[in-house]
Order: sequence, then structure tokens, then C-alpha cells
Amino acid sequence: MNLKIAVLPGDGIGPEISRQGVDVMSAVCDKFGHHVEYSYAACGAAAIDAVGDPFPEETFRICLDADAVLFSAVGDPKFDNDPNAKVRPEQGLLAMRKKLGLYANIRPVETFPCLIHKSPLKAELVDGADFVCIRELTGGMYFGEKFESDERAYDTNAYTRPEIERILRTAYSYARRRRKHLTVVDKANVLASSRLWRKVAQQMASEYPDVTTDFMYVDNAAMRMIQEPRFFDVMVTENTFGDILTDEGSVISGSMGLLPSASTGESTPVFEPIHGSWPQAKGLNIANPLAQILSVAMLFEYFDLKEEGALIRRAVNASLDSEVRTPEIQVPGGAHYGTREVGAWIVNYIRNA
Ligand code: IPM
Ligand code: MG
Repeated sequence: MNLKIAVLPGDGIGPEISRQGVDVMSAVCDKFGHHVEYSYAACGAAAIDAVGDPFPEETFRICLDADAVLFSAVGDPKFDNDPNAKVRPEQGLLAMRKKLGLYANIRPVETFPCLIHKSPLKAELVDGADFVCIRELTGGMYFGEKFESDERAYDTNAYTRPEIERILRTAYSYARRRRKHLTVVDKANVLASSRLWRKVAQQMASEYPDVTTDFMYVDNAAMRMIQEPRFFDVMVTENTFGDILTDEGSVISGSMGLLPSASTGESTPVFEPIHGSWPQAKGLNIANPLAQILSVAMLFEYFDLKEEGALIRRAVNASLDSEVRTPEIQVPGGAHYGTREVGAWIVNYIRNA
């Protein structure tokens, strides 16, 4: 297969983990005889510094022209504490999602048996937890009408029936491929937008009689996720709730550095770690590259290249079992491996597999 990949390394630790993702991708393509071509493009703070726009037109064009985008992270502390900043790196990410029509954000939450002890939750609770959060990504408060003055400000949480229907279809198709259990997370006891979600979901549920659909208020879901994470199979929710719940979900795995994600929709899909740019670790060679590397696995799987994805997952598991791990998940007394060393080990595993 010929693959054209737009690579957007972004800010902070982004470029370091991006390199490992690209190396793994190339190793897999070599092994399976795929031809891959990379186009690098700027985004986030790096792009603001270069051209004053966190998602420049040129980057958009490169993304549109690609089969998939391998994205890393954006964000820079110099913007965080300046509420008057006219443009922020995060706007680049939001512009990318909107312009590419990436309405479905797929965030799997899985546990790795050898890392269960890293989770702050009790091992017997998280052991075997395995669910996917489908987060709506181009609507809701993130993109609704906004107003901001020094005395009053608001964000509008608007959703239309077609927006809700298409994300529910994505969620149902995941549920059908998994354990056939869909939980619709909303706040229908308070929010009008949530009541529309619930109404649409209740109407659609009869089209999927093989899937058990249940409904949960978001506050309750936040609690249930840490009390009984094995309850969930596929959860679907609006943009803002999904943002919050997926950070919570990452705690179940023991490290944010482990969770990949895919954003799909109307045009080029984007594959990225769920973690941010961790500016404090920039250039230190300590960031965990696994979330980025697992994003590459999701990329192959998106194109139905299952063996390629499976090989990456095997390589990642082997690196964990061999204690080739970045500091935040290393065993006490274990050897020191940095971002590059973990990436190189995985590339080597793939070459020799
Ligand atoms: C995420 C991030 C982004 C979001 C930020 C960086 C804008 O937290 O992808 O979850 O809020 O969507
Ligand atoms: Mg988030």
C-alpha cells in the first residue's frame, strides 16, 4: 500500500515522540512492503512563532493531501498565563479538528497487566478494564457561540440532531465490534442539549437491537469509571464531557504516556497521543513514546492493516515485559531508558520479528 502521511510534531515533547512514531512507522512499512512518504508541517506554538497562525493554511493543505495525519502535541506555557494572548497553540488543534471535520474522537482505555500497580486505583478494580470513549469533537461548547467581556462571558453548548446522529452511529459501530454495550453519557437532568442527545439516542437504539444501550449522567459516569471501570465497553459523549472523562480514564492505565487516540470524520483522519506537550520535559529524552507509537498502530488498523497494528502492539508489550521503559513506568532499580532508547528498542524488535 502507498501511504502519504502528514507529520505534525508540534511543541514541547512533541518532536521527540514524533520521531519515534515515524521510525516505528517506517520499520513496519519496510517489513510489510508498504511505501510511505512523509510531509512535515508546523502547528501550535511553533507555527505561531514561525507564521503567526497555530494551524497555517499550508499545514491544512498538507493534511488534506495526506492519507493520515500523525500528530504529536501542542501547547506552550508562555501562552498559558496570559489571558490576553490573541492566539493560542490549542487553537491550532481545534482548527485542525474543525477544518478536517474530525467529529469522532476514539480514545481507548486499556490496562497493561505489568503496569497495574502504577494506577492509583486498586489493582482488583482496574485489572481487565477495557473500554473505548467516543468523544464528539467538533461541536458543543468548544465551538458554540462565545462572548467575552470583563464583566460577563459565555460559551454556548449547541448540538444539532445530525451531529448527534453521526457520532452515535460511530459509537454503535464500535459497540457492534466489541462487547455490544453502549453507554450514552449526558446531563439530561439539567441541560437541554443533553436532552436532545438522549432523545436521539433513544430513537436510534431500536435500530441496534443487538447492542444494549444505557444512559448515565456525566457526574455518575465519572464516579463509576473509577469505582467499576469494567462496567464500560463503549461510552459516547459530547465534546466537553469527553475531554474531562478521557483524562480521568488515562489514570486507569497508570500513565498518560500510554494512551493513543484517533480522530475521524469527513476527511483525513488524525492519530495522536491523548497527552499534551509536557513542556517541562522538552529535550530531556524522558517522555514516554508509547502513546505516539500506539497511535501508529491505530493508524494501520484504520486502513485495515491488522497485522501491522498487531506487530506494533506486540513490540510495545515486549518492551514493557523486558523493562525497557521510560522513567515514569520503570520498575524500581530498573535500567534507565529514554524516549529514544525505548523507540529504538521497539524498531529493532519489529525489524527482527
Ligand atoms: C484534548 C486536549 C485539548 C482539548 C486541548 C489541548 C485543546 O485537552 O485533546 O483532550 O481540550 O480537546
Ligand atoms: Mg483533554
